[in-house]
Amino acid sequence: MMQDDALRASSYVDASRLLDSIETLAHFGAGEDGGVDRPALSPTDIHARRHLIERAITLGCTVRTDACANLFFRRAGLEALPPVMTGSHVDTQPTGGKLDGCYGVLAGFECLAALNDAGIQTRRPLEVAAWTNEEGTRFQPGAMGSSAFVDPGLLEHYYPAKDGDGITLAAALATHCEAFPTLETRAVEKAAHAFIELHIEQGPLLELANIPLGVVKGIQGVRWYAVRCKGVAAHAGTTPMHARHDAMTLAVRIRAEIAALAHQLGGDDTRITFGRWTVLPNSINTIASEVTFSIDFRHPDPAVLGAFDRKLLDCTARNAVTSEALFIHPPVDFAPAVIQRVADACHALGVPSLSITSGAFHDAMYLAKHCPSAMLFVPSRGGISHNPLEATDDDHLVLGARALAHCLVNLCNEAP
Ligand code: GLV
Ligand code: MN
Ligand code: MN
Repeated sequence: MMQDDALRASSYVDASRLLDSIETLAHFGAGEDGGVDRPALSPTDIHARRHLIERAITLGCTVRTDACANLFFRRAGLEALPPVMTGSHVDTQPTGGKLDGCYGVLAGFECLAALNDAGIQTRRPLEVAAWTNEEGTRFQPGAMGSSAFVDPGLLEHYYPAKDGDGITLAAALATHCEAFPTLETRAVEKAAHAFIELHIEQGPLLELANIPLGVVKGIQGVRWYAVRCKGVAAHAGTTPMHARHDAMTLAVRIRAEIAALAHQLGGDDTRITFGRWTVLPNSINTIASEVTFSIDFRHPDPAVLGAFDRKLLDCTARNAVTSEALFIHPPVDFAPAVIQRVADACHALGVPSLSITSGAFHDAMYLAKHCPSAMLFVPSRGGISHNPLEATDDDHLVLGARALAHCLVNLCNEAP
């Protein structure tokens, strides 16, 4: 009976409604290159949120917010039990696509609509969340909304974070309150029963394996550091090479040393990126006086991450440069019972699935501390994401939403 409802809900997922909803949301912040630029809590994000709120109301949901402007769209259950949650984020990278985050929220909406159309009532409420500022591009760190939901004490540390124009998170949150003055605030409730985040893979593994769904067993650990190297500004034409203190020469040497140690420690699973460089004075004919560069190091093994931290400190001490930890998160193992629900959904739909560890971090990384959680992936064409070219085959998008509906209904009907 319950199993029937899960399959029936998945069969009511409407392909064109889901695909249209993705195109419609992508209009908010659309670029000429087909991508989307929608910074968290910006005017375009607020317009997109208004669109979601209006749609949720027409679906019969209650809509609430919280101190970090997360949005919660709840379909009532038959019993006063903790809800099952799903969702993701609708902020994007500056050169983002239409799917990263948005797909998980809109597939959640599609499940709400499918349940309505199928006339299915669930024991537990079903709540779709849109978490604030997952990308961390406007305000750092990323996954602010989901982390503050799980640990509200973090919010006071987040308030002073400034965007590139000097606007604080606190001010951006006040703008959100002004935009939605009548939105009810979600009271602190008992932990949710479970959370499932559906997301595009953002990497090539599913496509390479030609498998349409990924059952995500966890998320690899991450380290973000800033390394600052000092030199002395001097004339590029007159200063002999042996008499220079060039911060860039030093930074490039240290970068190579750190890359080598990351590969040596982490082997094939190593992911090391030096994506952001700040050069002072950044002038063509002046030797650099200061270079700061970022490190993004990821690995699934906590022992490797710990060894990297120690060796990085040795390296920076040896070279008399400083390093600052910007963001540290251990690997996350999802809950076996929720992983099993995701695997069961793939099986019930007759679709092959791959057990996979997420290379990217997601809101589910924090939700996993709040309640039993897991994720479901669909393939990314060419493994490309954080890029306007980000794409997933329509069939895969629909299949992901069907599998999501299946697991949500089964979780919603679980006994207390
Ligand atoms: C999130 O987008 C990440 O950097 O993994
Ligand atoms: Mn995302
Ligand atoms: Mn992203």
